[in-house]
Amino acid sequence: MAQGSRSAAVPAAASFFALLAVAAPLLLCCAPAAAELARLEHPPKDGGSLSLLVVGDWGRKGTFNQSRVAHQMGRVGEQLSIDFVISTGDNFYENGLTGTDDEAFEQSFTDIYTAKSLQKPWYLVLGNHDYRGDALAQLSPVLRKIDSRFICIKSFVVNAEIVEFFFVDTTPFQLKYWTHPKDDHYDWRGVAPRENYINNLLKTSTAAWKVAVGHHTMRSVSDHGDTKELLQLLLPVLQANGVDFYINGHDHCLEHISSRDSPIQYFTSGGGSKAWRGVQNPTEDDLKFFYDGQGFMSLQLDRSQAKFTFYDVDGKALYSYTRSSLMETGHHLQASGYVNEE
Ligand SMILES: *[C@@H]1O[C@H](CO)[C@@H](O)[C@H](O)[C@H]1NC(C)=O
Repeated sequence: MAQGSRSAAVPAAASFFALLAVAAPLLLCCAPAAAELARLEHPPKDGGSLSLLVVGDWGRKGTFNQSRVAHQMGRVGEQLSIDFVISTGDNFYENGLTGTDDEAFEQSFTDIYTAKSLQKPWYLVLGNHDYRGDALAQLSPVLRKIDSRFICIKSFVVNAEIVEFFFVDTTPFQLKYWTHPKDDHYDWRGVAPRENYINNLLKTSTAAWKVAVGHHTMRSVSDHGDTKELLQLLLPVLQANGVDFYINGHDHCLEHISSRDSPIQYFTSGGGSKAWRGVQNPTEDDLKFFYDGQGFMSLQLDRSQAKFTFYDVDGKALYSYTRSSLMETGHHLQASGYVNEE
């Protein structure tokens, strides 16, 4: 691992994290509090396993293959007997919701993800397109009265015992939305000032697996490329906390990247509707998998293993990646001997 190149970032990360640790009184459950990090409990199945689907960049009233992806999510969700669904944001195109009475909520969500297996909690972050509308509407309990699955909070933790998910609201990280909004209006209520907001996001965790979820790419070979603010501000925090995986949308494709500077594995699941952008730029990172079309991802976890699978619009499994936590432990020293003796 090329850790040396990161040393310049470490002091900043340390103080950033100290702030986070102080600023994270745990809230039990559901009120979408403005500043504190909400914490939801979602226990795993009885045997200690968990499975879920991840979809991003989807809300287009069924068009651009959104309905086909939804249908296949239903099938795969049934097979894997999923516990919940994660959305990596850009939930409603082009400009989020106009308010809690916007019919796009039903047209792009309730009426689309109708399969029985998808009638589970959906944990959602906001994407940049969501910020262009009434961002607070998506957090409102009014929506949950219409469809109780929709659990969208700006930044929050879902604790599933074997794994903790850190949902990070990444839009405010990206400076250009603040400094160069062009003709778009961003709804920063509850967010500004940006620095305070970012400083409030993470906390320590002792779960076997740690997964961070955000809308924007950290590492990407596609349309948006790497997001430098996330690499500067968020990556050091993820590293300091031993986060294993970062899952995002934003790029309308499916990607797995193993980066040059961190053991963190990066997964893009942004193929929920419009895709086929036709952009693939090689980077110095190790690109494990790239698919430019529509699709989604599953994640199956137990204490010792995490398995990611990407599916296309026909529900065909395209690629799988498995990481064992024992190998992680053995990685530093007596690799296989240690595992065998256990
Ligand atoms: C829908 O998916 C099929 C199969 O991948 C693809 O050929 C077609 O172009 C897609 N439609 C759109 C609008 O992206």
